[in-house]
Amino acid sequence: MPERWTPDSWRKKPVMQVPDYPDLQALADVEKQLATFPPLVFAGEARNLKKQLARVANGEAFLLQGGDCAESFAEHGANNIRDFFRMFLQMAVVLTYAAASPVVKVGRIAGQFAKPRSSPMEKRDGKELPSYRGDIINDIAFTDEARRPDPRRQVEAYRQSAATLNLLRAFAQGGYANLASVRQWMLGFVKDSPQSRAYVELSDRISEALGFMQACGLDLESHPELRTTEFYTSHEALLLGYEEAFTRIDSTTGDWYATSGHMIWIGDRTRQFDHAHIEYARGIKNPIGLKCGPSLKPDDLLRLIDALNPDNEAGRLTLIGRFGADKVGDHLPALVRAVKREGRVVLWSCDPMHGNTITSASGYKTRPFDLILKEVRAFFDVHQAEGTYAGGVHLEMTGANVTECTGGARAISDADLNDRYHTVCDPRLNAEQAIDLAFLLAELLKKERIAHAKPLSAVAGL
Ligand code: PEP
Ligand code: CO
Repeated sequence: MPERWTPDSWRKKPVMQVPDYPDLQALADVEKQLATFPPLVFAGEARNLKKQLARVANGEAFLLQGGDCAESFAEHGANNIRDFFRMFLQMAVVLTYAAASPVVKVGRIAGQFAKPRSSPMEKRDGKELPSYRGDIINDIAFTDEARRPDPRRQVEAYRQSAATLNLLRAFAQGGYANLASVRQWMLGFVKDSPQSRAYVELSDRISEALGFMQACGLDLESHPELRTTEFYTSHEALLLGYEEAFTRIDSTTGDWYATSGHMIWIGDRTRQFDHAHIEYARGIKNPIGLKCGPSLKPDDLLRLIDALNPDNEAGRLTLIGRFGADKVGDHLPALVRAVKREGRVVLWSCDPMHGNTITSASGYKTRPFDLILKEVRAFFDVHQAEGTYAGGVHLEMTGANVTECTGGARAISDADLNDRYHTVCDPRLNAEQAIDLAFLLAELLKKERIAHAKPLSAVAGL
């Protein structure tokens, strides 16, 4: 792509998944207004995340990325954000402690609103309406009015992202994430769960270790890495007009950054090499994710890597495989080999959610926990066989006690799905299932880290 890049150069390219806004002038007015709003994140923070991801690409840490499939205006509230953050900390501490690996924490949050759809229209009882594309675009209710894309929703999504991020920053830096509180992070409804004993044991051992260090004269209060944590945000950069409005020049380097979130990714449906989404992503300096599904061929992947990471910078590009438990073994090895052969530095992550969605007998869109785990295991196996590093996972999960995915330690059944099925898009792991998965992941990661024989320098830096 030799042409000059500008924040709006994507507008000259073919673009997929665009909402059909009835009033283009109203859309342009909103985009103009958004461009005057304060950035949500700063370039320096995105650069820090890139450094952390470079460590992961180098086999020295693990990436935990996850959150809602789609944030919603209705579910926005302090308790939901707090419970999500607690669950995230629990998962991270399990991985850090059990696998002795630093964990880079990236939420699908504070901007994860726009959804790609397989079909632009939805039919119900003979009536056809535009598909729901996420709260930043239209409303989920099945009426003409609700489904009409409304640009003012972008302002609402921005305000919600700012409020969410504000609380996350307070939780991460204001004392909530203090390792001394490891026991308190446990969510009420997880307390009587099958794996709560394992978590209590682990938190007791951490508390003991902290007590020991203190007794040895170490002043824990003077170590910010024990009292605070780094937490980053990410979302799919799907709605490019919104992204363009938040694309700003960093005054210290003169480079362009997306300031709508620390990391953005390109979805599996919008990664065409010569199309708008790749054009947009190539020009910003943030860390970028690229979803890789079964239709991606090794040569196409290499061309995308050329476009997105021409300088072969570690931490810039995370490849997020989402093949399905039964397909990952057929597709991932060829991609890994091609990337390795060409000497490209990438972070390999596994999204075990989007290739494992099924419709249950009762008609719910669900994901069996066993298939999710199977894809994760296969991901680690492939990397072990190829001599590469399985660097992270990308999950859809919530801190709430929902029943959307089947299975897990408490064996949610098809019949249970009806109890608390709240997602506005794809089914999420609930907190118990997510922590369950973290324990299983820790085992896989521990084996991998022993095989890679990296020094165990992980205790700090949770
Ligand atoms: C998603 O992450 O919610 C998503 C739509 O994923 P994919 O692009 O991999 O289908
Ligand atoms: Co999803």
